[in-house]
Amino acid sequence: MSDNPKTIDQLNAESRDIWDANAEAWDKRIGGGGGWQSTIIAPMVEKMLNIQPGERVLDIACGNGIFSRRLAELGAAVVASDFSPKLIALAKQRTTERTEQIEYHVADATDIAQLLALVGKDGQPFDAAVCNNAIMDMPVIEPLFRAVAQMLKPDGRFVFSVMHPCFNGQSISMQAELPDYDQEPTYSIKVSRYLSAEATKGLAIREQPLQQYYWHRPLHLLLNSAFENGLVMDRLEEPQMIAEMPPTNAFAWANYDMPPLLFVRLRPAK
Ligand SMILES: C[S@@+](CC[C@H](N)C(=O)[O-])C[C@H]1O[C@@H](n2cnc3c(N)ncnc32)[C@H](O)[C@@H]1O
Repeated sequence: MSDNPKTIDQLNAESRDIWDANAEAWDKRIGGGGGWQSTIIAPMVEKMLNIQPGERVLDIACGNGIFSRRLAELGAAVVASDFSPKLIALAKQRTTERTEQIEYHVADATDIAQLLALVGKDGQPFDAAVCNNAIMDMPVIEPLFRAVAQMLKPDGRFVFSVMHPCFNGQSISMQAELPDYDQEPTYSIKVSRYLSAEATKGLAIREQPLQQYYWHRPLHLLLNSAFENGLVMDRLEEPQMIAEMPPTNAFAWANYDMPPLLFVRLRPAK
């Protein structure tokens, strides 16, 4: 440990600068879809959110706005935010249809005041909120849960997806073993640390110029933070990765009987 550990605000500012520096690479890679976003994240989140036309939906940490545009396609009026000004600029550039249905804002999800401001001047609560694969990128998550609990209608829902804390992250190592030529390979995951909440750096995509921060939280810290800040859980999903073709790479997730992503649906506590 360093003598002068960085404060949460310093870490978050550094993380924002990293996301800004990686924004173009991220936008190019995610583009208009493909990969996990299309095959697993969007379909699962859509199912869990069950958006109805005309609903008002908040997309927190929207990146290049890929899911915000999908929400608009489903008929929602979308407020989308991210702390990276570059990603918000790219999201705006990519939004050429249904522009009247999406407003983009730069807002830091670790700052409750910035989040609460997203509700707008008329203070109209949201029917639903979503945060796709970004909670593990934040040094603190209490402000996000507390703000969402306050901004949702009493029967509203909040769905988030996150790297599965048990099976995916910087402390796991994927292993493929072939006991004998006449046997099927076995695929396992070695977990070297789980209980320690810690920050590490790594790559989400190979093309990104800078490593980004990841904040690992074991399940009890992740979910208790939501429960302690006004939300209750009513659904949890851990989908198996499915490959269209039998994977040729031993480290393709489709080989493993373990989920790389966790999906959680929360609602305001009564
Ligand atoms: C893995 S990307 C996911 C983007 C988008 N939700 C998607 O599914 O394509 C993580 C996003 O979280 C954003 N992010 C990270 N920390 C944040 C924070 N403190 N406040 C707001 N956005 C944040 C990043 O800028 C990035 O756009």
